[in-house]
Amino acid sequence: MMVCEYKPGLEGIPAAQSSISHVDGQKGILEYRGIRIEELAEKSSFLETAYLLIWGELPSKEELEAFEYEVRYHRRIKYRIRDMMKCFPESGHPMDALQASAAALGLFYSRRDLHNPAYIRDSVVRLLATIPTMVAAFQLMRKGNDPVRPRDDLDYSANFLYMLNEKEPDALAAKIFDICLILHVEHTMNASTFSARVTASTLTDPYAVVASAVGTLGGPLHGGANEEVIQMLEEIGSVENVRPYVDNLLQRKAKIMGFGHRVYKVKDPRATVLQNLAEQLFAKFGHDKYYDIALEMEQVVAEKLSGKGIYPNVDFYSGLVYGKMGIPTDLFTPIFAIARVAGWLAHWKEQLAENRIFRPTQIYNGRHEIPYIPIDQR
Ligand code: SDX
Repeated sequence: MMVCEYKPGLEGIPAAQSSISHVDGQKGILEYRGIRIEELAEKSSFLETAYLLIWGELPSKEELEAFEYEVRYHRRIKYRIRDMMKCFPESGHPMDALQASAAALGLFYSRRDLHNPAYIRDSVVRLLATIPTMVAAFQLMRKGNDPVRPRDDLDYSANFLYMLNEKEPDALAAKIFDICLILHVEHTMNASTFSARVTASTLTDPYAVVASAVGTLGGPLHGGANEEVIQMLEEIGSVENVRPYVDNLLQRKAKIMGFGHRVYKVKDPRATVLQNLAEQLFAKFGHDKYYDIALEMEQVVAEKLSGKGIYPNVDFYSGLVYGKMGIPTDLFTPIFAIARVAGWLAHWKEQLAENRIFRPTQIYNGRHEIPYIPIDQR
C-alpha cells in the first residue's frame, strides 16, 4: 500500500471521485455539472438547479413541473415534529434546532431502501420540501407564535419568505433569495459535504446524512462565518475604523471572517454575484452603511493579504443581502443549509452509487507498553 504524507485538514487529498461540481480556484470559476454558476444564477431557479445536481441533467419542462409539484405537496411538517420543536429553548441556535429536526424526520421515515430509486426520490423531495418549513417554524415558535402553514400558490423561495415573515414577499426580494440559494447549493468536497459522504458511506438513512452535515456547516470556519461577518461589521461601526480593526486582527493572528478559502486564491465568484445582488437590493430598499464598511474592508484586506491569496469568500456579502431582506442574523447559516441540502443529497446519491465505507488511517503518536497504575498509587 502506498504510504502518503500526513496533510492536516486533508489539504489536496482527493476524498472521492465526483461529477457534481468543479472549482478552479486560480481562475475563480465554479461549475455545477459543467454549467457556470453565473449562468445558472441568471437563468435557472433553485429547484431546477437542485434537480440538475441530484439527477445530473437539466430537467425537461414536464420533469421540472413534476418535481416542483412534489416538493410543493410535501412542504407541511408533521404536528409531532412541530410539537417537538416547540419544546426547544428559544435561546438555542436555529442551526441546532434544524439539526435536531432533520434527524427527527428519520424517526418517521425509518425505512432504509437505499437501492430503490423511488425511496431516493421520496427522501430528496421530503428533505428539500420540509427543511425550509422547519427553519421558518422555529423562527416563529421561538417568538411565541404558531408556525405559518406553507402556501401552495407560492414558489419555493417566496413560500419560505412568506412562512418566515407571515406576509407575501416583495417579488425582487424573492427572486434574489432564490438566486442566493443557487449560489449556496453545492461546492465540491467542503467540510459539511465530506461529513455527509462519510455518514452516507455507512449506509444509514438520508436524515442522518443531512443532520450530520448541518452540524458541520454551523461552525464559524465554514457556513457559520456569514453570521460572524455581520457581527464584525457592526463591531467596526465606521469606515474609518476598518484599517485599525484589520491591523489588530492580523497582529493577533486572528482570522478575518468572510475571507480566505482552501481552494480559491482569488475572489470567490459567488461573492461577486452576491455583491451585485446586495447592490440591487440597496437600490430598491435604501443603502446600508455596513456595505461601505465591507467595501473598505475588501480593499484593506487585499492590500495586506492578497499575496497569500486571501479575498472575500461566499460568506462575506451574503449577510448584507439577507439583512436587507429583514432576516435575523442567526438565520443566515440555516438558510445556507436550506440551499446546501440539495448538494448534500447529490453527494449522498453519488456515494451510494459506488459506495465503500470511509475508514482512513492515522499516524499514531502516543505511547506503548505503559503499565496500569492502580488508582491509590497515582
Ligand atoms: C465556507 O470549503 C468550502 O468549499 C467551504 C465553502 C462552501 O461553499 O462549502 O466555500 C463555505 O466555508 C467559506 C469559508 C468561511 N469561513 C471563513 O470565512 C472563516 C475565515 N476564513 C478562514 O479561517 C480560512 O481562510 C478557511 C477556514 C476558509 C480556510 O482555511 P485553510 O485552508 O485551512 O487555511 P489556513 O487557516 O491554514 O490559512 C492559510 C494561511 C495562514 O497564513 P500563514 O500561517 O500561512 O502565514 O492564510 C492565512 C492563515 O493565517 N489566512 C487568513 C485567513 N484565512 C487564511 N488570515 C487572515 N484571515 C483569514 N480569513
